Amino acid sequence: MTILGIESSCDETSAAIVEEGVVLSNVVQGQVEVHAEYGGVVPELASRAHIHNIYPVITEALLRAGRQAADLTGIAVTAGPGLIGGLLVGLALAKGLALALQKPLIGIHHMEGHLMSPFLRLRHETPSDCTFPFVALLVSGGHTWLLHAKAFGDYELLGQTRDDAAGEAFDKGARLLGLPYPGGPAIAALANGGDAQAIRFPRAWLDRQRFDFSFSGLKTALRTHLLNHPPGEDLQTARDIAASYQEALVEVLVEKALAACRAVGCTRLLVAGGVGANQRLRELLQQKAGQRIAVYAPPLAFCTDNGAMIALAGEVRLLRGERSDDALTVRPRWPIGEVAFFSLAKALPLQ
Ligand code: KG4
Ligand code: ZN
Repeated sequence: MTILGIESSCDETSAAIVEEGVVLSNVVQGQVEVHAEYGGVVPELASRAHIHNIYPVITEALLRAGRQAADLTGIAVTAGPGLIGGLLVGLALAKGLALALQKPLIGIHHMEGHLMSPFLRLRHETPSDCTFPFVALLVSGGHTWLLHAKAFGDYELLGQTRDDAAGEAFDKGARLLGLPYPGGPAIAALANGGDAQAIRFPRAWLDRQRFDFSFSGLKTALRTHLLNHPPGEDLQTARDIAASYQEALVEVLVEKALAACRAVGCTRLLVAGGVGANQRLRELLQQKAGQRIAVYAPPLAFCTDNGAMIALAGEVRLLRGERSDDALTVRPRWPIGEVAFFSLAKALPLQ
């Protein structure tokens, strides 16, 4: 199957061509410069940038893959959750293409895309040996989820954030530190060479038996610390603060993810989403997981939003005979538990 995947739910316009899980191309057009001065994504500006970028991004994806639109078996597009304007741009284009080319269209849940990202591979790479069931730590700018993925399409939400998402905590922390957006990579870079034990920022464990997260207290603690101990021009002090802040965030993610694995009896843990690119998170997960739990993470390029992960999820669903009908609409809010229902309700034989 040759699948075109389209992603436009936040601030990356992306298109990719995937064949049997192999990424032939993955074009990502970011919008950092559009949103930089606001310190976060401005939805209306994001929609306009998607309109501007989406067609060239798709054309480029086909070109780099060496494929024509006529070669496509199907089209997969992020239908939600996300910013409604961006989702509408992606879906309108996907629907138009599907209609013009007479190809099946499938709407994909953005987080199912992230969930599939560790299974993506380049042409010369061997397939991942990760299999269902597993626990997934999905950490992005909008979500912090611990999922029990029992089978493809069968996901139980074990825990989620009660306030800020992990990526949001990085982004807001970065703003307090005077760092640019997106904050995750900026904090990680500043934290390099910092002492992660310098400041004991609070860890919100909440109920130890449950797997919910809370990061707003950590953010407030950073604000208070910066008011009481402004780092001024001292780079080492700033490095120590960034490293300590990152450590507090990462430690809670790691401990809760491993506790979730133990609770459901899973020996496989998958981490994905933009924050999954964080080296300290990956390092601590590997270290704490030890021999008992195998940790799987996508290559860095597939952590942040991309069309390839949407194409792969689409490939699996189309192979199962599912397709979205013409009435497919965007779902800016879309509970993950409704994923199977949403798609299976429209299952049709493949044309
Ligand atoms: O998955 P993603 O690209 O978009 C959403 O679906 O939200 O995630 C974006 C988030 C941003 O909050 C960004 O700061 C964070 O991922 N991020 C990181 C790193 N790279 C991106 N956070 C920590 N460390 C990183 N290296
Ligand atoms: Zn995402």
